[in-house]
Amino acid sequence: MNNYLVNGVELAAVDRGMGLPLLLVHGFPLNHTLWQAQFEDCADHCHVIAPDLRGFGTSGVSEGEVSMEQMADDLAGLLDTMGIQEPVVFCGLSMGGYIAWEFWRRHRSRLAGLILCHTRAAADSPEASANRLLTADRVLAEGLAPIADAMIPRLAAEVTFTRYPERVETVRRMIFSNDPRGVAAASRGMARRADATALLPEIACPTLLIAGQYDQLAPPSEMRAMAEAIPNARLVEIRDAGHLSPMENPAEVNAAILSFLGELRP
Ligand code: MLT
Repeated sequence: MNNYLVNGVELAAVDRGMGLPLLLVHGFPLNHTLWQAQFEDCADHCHVIAPDLRGFGTSGVSEGEVSMEQMADDLAGLLDTMGIQEPVVFCGLSMGGYIAWEFWRRHRSRLAGLILCHTRAAADSPEASANRLLTADRVLAEGLAPIADAMIPRLAAEVTFTRYPERVETVRRMIFSNDPRGVAAASRGMARRADATALLPEIACPTLLIAGQYDQLAPPSEMRAMAEAIPNARLVEIRDAGHLSPMENPAEVNAAILSFLGELRP
């Protein structure tokens, strides 16, 4: 891991390989190790950058609220600090996808392509948004155990619990690696995020959507509707996976990512 001072905060990131930059943006409330199997396998084929977002893993923390816009600006700033000026493939999972919408709105000239994993374009309902604000308060008062207990059963598919219990343990470790203040700030930021549905027809870069057969949080049907609304997009549905296919079925995910990167090269 290297550390980079970006927008007043230290961001930690894995930086491996050469060639087309592939920026791997983790979901909530996780960290860069979500992408372990990708930076191990894909770094022979491209330049993999896997940061811990502001407030997560070993990166610095901002208290209060951290918006998706701020996270997108952090990632653009990280690329600047690393000296990466050529267009990148932005690969975001779930909250990483919410950040991808803002990256498209604010920094689209920096994109060679988008990979959207297990994410949604719709904003939260008022109830869901209020729940996220309560979650933020609860994490600050009680720590990470309640959010880990509530989320883990919904993140992985049943088949992952049976076949790969150690991967579920890795998810639990990731959640507990985080500072409650960072998790609370991102929860508030997600609660107030903008709806991106109207943006989909404008997304002009090549786009790959990755859905999970058993994802309860970003169901394949919703991902398929997004793929149909984005002009230059296609969808891959990963078998035996819930919301975290990069860990649950890395072989299929890596094949999909590498095939997409292959199509982008001249
Ligand atoms: C994630 O994986 O980033 C979360 O499921 C996002 C969310 O809570 O909407």
